[in-house]
Parts: sequence; structure tokens; C-alpha cells
Amino acid sequence: MTRPVILDCDPGHDDALALLLAVGDPRVRLLGVTTVAGNQTLDKTTRNALRILALAGADVPVAAGCDRPLVGELSVAADIHGASGLDGPDLDGPVPDLAGVHAVELMRRLLVDSVEPVTIVATGPLTNVALLVRTYPEVLPRVRRIVLMGGSTERGNTTPYGEFNIVTDPEAADIVLRSGRPVTMIGLNVTHQALATAEVIAAFENLGTRAGAVCAELMTFFAGTYRLVFGFEHPPVHDPIAVAAVLDPSIVTTVPAPVAIELTGTHTRGATVVDLHGRTGRPPDTDVAVAIDVPAFWHLLLTAVAALPTGRP
Ligand code: BDR
Ligand code: CA
Repeated sequence: MTRPVILDCDPGHDDALALLLAVGDPRVRLLGVTTVAGNQTLDKTTRNALRILALAGADVPVAAGCDRPLVGELSVAADIHGASGLDGPDLDGPVPDLAGVHAVELMRRLLVDSVEPVTIVATGPLTNVALLVRTYPEVLPRVRRIVLMGGSTERGNTTPYGEFNIVTDPEAADIVLRSGRPVTMIGLNVTHQALATAEVIAAFENLGTRAGAVCAELMTFFAGTYRLVFGFEHPPVHDPIAVAAVLDPSIVTTVPAPVAIELTGTHTRGATVVDLHGRTGRPPDTDVAVAIDVPAFWHLLLTAVAALPTGRP
């Protein structure tokens, strides 16, 4: 079984891993990649997506989308991802051309053209996906599910209660969660369980391929910023877990629960208010990830990266 997927991302070290997983695992048919401002400005996240797809030898349409959140100003995560958004590995070299249409238009075309309903995996702020929902409601039945990395059932990483992707564009997240399409939320409560230990990083290095080396370098850079900013001994790699949840649903355990986005909180704007115990009486509208099979996840990511073209060592 292969699932048609559109990956909307803001690379980003962990978005880069998500792209490599989506290209390398045969259970995903990557129809297209769309980029959004988030970890860095749109020009940088777009260039980074193209650099990673060139590394992976992937030939898929790529389109740049929104350069700022629906409301307010963009605040990038240079403290985590560096000035380029993908500091660490040397990714110089030719990159493919952009599709020449806006990300939302590319999504629309891919949805219309696909024989099967398409899963949208979103690993950045949800600005592009929200615009798709609002601009082209007629194509939404073509969306099988939206699987997003964002939010948390617990605390945040950008504010005490807010996770980066949701805090960056809370209005977009609110629109997506109320789109009427099935949504899976892969939050920090799960992504903080799969940590890139020294053994994990060595396993990627030991693949002996260019893609393996780049993965190791991405995780090593992330290890440095996560140690500095959060005091983590080993870094999480959030975004590929959203792709993994699509290609092998047994990787994460989800529970249905109502999720609301805090839009007006004085200190909590962008928080994901997850009602795990049914206390609000609201309908359970989101499949919320609550557990992950960590060894299976790393095996799946390593296998996908090993399957990519070898490249220069
Ligand atoms: C999310 O924020 C970004 O910095 C990462 O790429 C990931 O998508 C984690 O909070
Ligand atoms: Ca991301």
C-alpha cells in the first residue's frame, strides 16, 4: 500500500528528516512539497527544501507558499535552526526549479489530479493549509487526513504553553482544526520521547552514504542548540514522526479528543488545549498522539535513509 502525500514544511533540521523519510520509504508517494515561513524566512525554508530534495535525488514539484502568518509578524527560530534554517551540513550544489505556482495552488492541483484521496502532512506553521481550507473548500473532500506536527498535551517549547508551529500561526491552526477533515496531532508530548542519542546518530553515520552523513550532521547541530536552549541531553526530531504516522500507523498511538487553540490568552496564545478526559463536553474532533514506539520509529527512519541514492560519501 502506498499513500499519496503532500508535505508542507519549513526546513528546518527536523523537516529535512521528514522530507528524507517521505522520499525514502516506499509506502509514501510524495506528490509534492510546499514550503512556508517558520523556522526561517520563506526564501530560506524553500531553498532548504530544494537542497534536501536534491540530496535525496527526488523529482517532485515544489512550491513556495506564505511568507508570514495570517495575523501578525513572523518570528523565526534561528536559535534552534541557525541563520540559514539548516545550519550544519554542507548542502551546496545545484537545486531543482520551483513549480512556478503558489503552494496553495499546487496543493489544489495535486488534490484534483490525484485518483486517491491525499494525506497532507504539515510540519511547519499551518498558514498554507489554512489558506487551502479557506480558498478552495471544494477540494477538501479530496483530503484524506491532515497529519500535523504541532502542539502538545503538556507544555510548550516557544512559550511555556505554546509549541512553535502553533504559536507562529494560531489562527491558521484554528482554521485547520475546524476544517471538518480528520486531523492527527503529533505534539511535543510524543516527539520528546524519540531522542537522537549518540547511538542513533552513529547509526546514520555508519550507513556510509551522503544522506546518512547529512542526517548525522543535522542531528548533531540540533543536539547543540537543544542542549544550549533547553538543556536537553539529546535532541528530539519532531517532524519525521508525522510522516512515520502516515506510512505505519502502528508507530504512534492516538486517542480522539477535543482540541482548541488558545487565540486570546494573555500568556497562552497558541496553546493547544487538549481535553483528554472529556471535561468540556465538546466533541472529540482530533486524533491526538499520546505514545510512540521509539525503536520502530528509528528503524523506519534509518531504513528509509539507507534506501536513498548513495551520493558522494
Ligand atoms: C517544531 O518547530 C520547528 O522548530 C520544528 O521544525 C518542528 O516542526 C517543533 O516545535
Ligand atoms: Ca518544522
